[in-house]
Amino acid sequence: MNNYNRTKGTDRFQSPHILGAVIMNFPDLFKKLGQRQRPTLGLDIGSHSIKLVEFSESSTDRTVRRIGRALVPPQAIVDGSIKRPDELARVLRALIDNLQPKARYVTTSVAGYSVIIKKINIPYQDKKEIEDNLLFEAEEYIPFEIEDVYIDFYSLGKENRDDSGTEIFLVAAKKDMVNEYANLIQEVGLFPAVVDVEAFALGNAFEAAGTIPTKPVALVDLGAQKTNLNIIGQGTSLFTKDIVFGGMQITEAIQEAAGLGYEAAEKVKIAGDKDLALMKEVAPVCKELCSIWATELKKTIDFYNASSKKTQQPEQIFISGGSASLKGLDRLFSETIGLSVRIFNPLQRFPVAQDIEPGYLSNIAPEMAIATGLALRTVIK
Ligand SMILES: Nc1ncnc2c1ncn2[C@@H]1O[C@H](COP(=O)(O)OP(=O)(O)OP(=O)(O)O)[C@@H](O)[C@H]1O
Ligand SMILES: [Mg+2]
Repeated sequence: MNNYNRTKGTDRFQSPHILGAVIMNFPDLFKKLGQRQRPTLGLDIGSHSIKLVEFSESSTDRTVRRIGRALVPPQAIVDGSIKRPDELARVLRALIDNLQPKARYVTTSVAGYSVIIKKINIPYQDKKEIEDNLLFEAEEYIPFEIEDVYIDFYSLGKENRDDSGTEIFLVAAKKDMVNEYANLIQEVGLFPAVVDVEAFALGNAFEAAGTIPTKPVALVDLGAQKTNLNIIGQGTSLFTKDIVFGGMQITEAIQEAAGLGYEAAEKVKIAGDKDLALMKEVAPVCKELCSIWATELKKTIDFYNASSKKTQQPEQIFISGGSASLKGLDRLFSETIGLSVRIFNPLQRFPVAQDIEPGYLSNIAPEMAIATGLALRTVIK
């Protein structure tokens, strides 16, 4: 038997909009009789907040049944690793108690330096052959010990296939980190069914949200500690990258410049302040960091473009994540990168349960992009 860790049964997770691989799933789920597609609970466990989205039972007619978020204590998650599991479990439990989702099976996601995503050409065409040789192929591309990672792949389809083999996305994630998230979910009495990749969840949310543009687009989720980029086109993901830059850096710079505590600095960042002298100190700091952010993103897109055909280069940017609401960031990105930038609403196409307040929903929608992509995954049970 193979001793590598490609998790079996991936294909049985059905979402009509799957762009990417899943890192991990639990095959035991599939052994039951009377199986049916059921939605999973989408839980995007970020360093700033945990976001929850649940669609109603029917996977054909999806309605947003539950949606919400809870703030994560500072330093509870650092570089994608869970540092304070007990506090995080408390926050997650409170969120679940508050929202009372029905689904017990959870899809969550990971990102960052512990996740490796590589597009590679392999000399096999048949899925079984790819599976059998994945360990051998992966070793060359993964900078970690092979026994320390979960591995999966996503075939890029017929159009990318020729006689010499197949193009695949190889996905690997450090077991330690994946297990931290799985344990947290179990800790609150839920069942971790799928662990996805954040950038892919973003792609799935975008596809599900409406008409796909004919030209490639760059999806950019602007979080607290990181920025996920997924360039999609021709119905698939063309390039992904996690950039280590987020809104927290701006908050920390404000703290330092104005001598404020974390919460006060967050407030000033989000809503400004009447104190003009304070704003005079804060404004240039914000501007400088936003420029660095825009330049980092531009460098990454330029890097991708340099080795891509014109037809595969993004012509538009959609931003999401909490920091997408930062005033003027969309315009600055557009000026720096030279592409139009729009704020992505992942929920625009879905009916919403009556007890969800429309104002609240439109406020938080861009933050919910990844959680929405996660909630689109279903399990058979
Ligand atoms: N209205 C707003 N204006 C500006 N910034 C905002 C606003 N709302 C939230 N933010 C910022 O967005 C960030 C949180 O975004 P998000 O919830 O997407 O991050 P996260 O998913 O928890 O973090 P990460 O994925 O990086 O671990 C914080 O830095 C927060 O200050
Ligand atoms: Mg995030």
